[in-house]
Amino acid sequence: MKKIRHFIPVNVPKLYNYEKKNILSCLKTNWISSEGKYVKEFEKNFSKFNLRKYGVAVSSGTAALEVALKALNLKKGTEVIIPAFSIISTALCVIKCNLKPILVDCSLSTWNVETEAVIKKISKKTSAIILTHIYGLPVDLDKIIKIAKRKNIRIIEDAAEVIGLKYKKKNCGSFGDLSTFSFYANKHITTGEGGMIVTNNKNLYLKCKSLRNLSFSNSYFDRYNHDDIGWNYRMTNLQAALGCGQLKNINKIIKRKREIGNLYYKNLKNNNKIILQQNKNSYSNNIYWVFGILLKKNCKIKRDVLMKKLLKNKIDTRPFFLSMNKQSIFKKMKLFKRDKMTNSDYLSKNGFYLPSGLALKDIEIKHICRVINKILI
Ligand SMILES: Cc1ncc(COP(=O)(O)O)c(C=O)c1O
Repeated sequence: MKKIRHFIPVNVPKLYNYEKKNILSCLKTNWISSEGKYVKEFEKNFSKFNLRKYGVAVSSGTAALEVALKALNLKKGTEVIIPAFSIISTALCVIKCNLKPILVDCSLSTWNVETEAVIKKISKKTSAIILTHIYGLPVDLDKIIKIAKRKNIRIIEDAAEVIGLKYKKKNCGSFGDLSTFSFYANKHITTGEGGMIVTNNKNLYLKCKSLRNLSFSNSYFDRYNHDDIGWNYRMTNLQAALGCGQLKNINKIIKRKREIGNLYYKNLKNNNKIILQQNKNSYSNNIYWVFGILLKKNCKIKRDVLMKKLLKNKIDTRPFFLSMNKQSIFKKMKLFKRDKMTNSDYLSKNGFYLPSGLALKDIEIKHICRVINKILI
């Protein structure tokens, strides 16, 4: 077998021909700001892909969460249930909207929040729940959404990591009041930086559109009169041009992501020192945004030592998210002081992910697995 001697980065995105053609057309026609046909085309095509009526393109997945939550116009001080194991953006949007984040621990096998754990956190003060699908598997949505509807609790589905994944037979990104996405360079499709909110609700759509654009007035003459505290979170035509091109290849991208994940799974599943996220379960097939590894308690080698050894072997990795209750800024703010998030903490300390970008070759994946299996015998 051919030896691999080069550095393997944790992510290299893959761009196809449509992207270059679209970008060149922006440059040729001077449509480079957020005005321009690609923003509208991307919103239309991406919302349709997610079985939604409306899309609002924004500058990042973090911006998408902030705009989506503010658009719900929830009563100040009410509670929003969020996963403890997720990107910090999930807690930040709640805090920035003057709402109270309530943490839910994750499961050790799905790495997602579980139905009963979420339901237990619902109180009279709960106004919304943010359901984040982690790393490639969806949250089990049905029962949570049903209960939320009955109690008039709003749902934001954060589908940033699972573009194209199906929960049961329906696309993630089609559940709840609003769904949010990120198009950072390591996502299934990328615009470099970017995000989108999709919804079926016209009023929420119009509010999101207004909030991402400083809540300018719609009147031609009264343009610089603003009726809310919005943001400039606009996506540029250049970014949307990339997105339109990427979306044309979405089926190819999903297929390759699954091939990468399945090859890792096949070569690592028998290693008894590690736990892998479920490859499939009764409601989904893992789409492998990233391929994560969780060290078992019987593993003598510490996570950081293993990551260092892999780096010495020119294999780049990243640690898992840090549980919200362990974030320095939240400790300073005296948030989550009494929260015990045992599983999220375990994942934060013992989990990391392997190179998972679309440019990765099979031969590199097999090499990475051989190195890991040699270290973790
Ligand atoms: C689940 C989830 N939500 C939101 C975000 C934030 O997206 P962005 O980096 O585009 O702000 C990320 C980023 O990786 C994410 O994983």
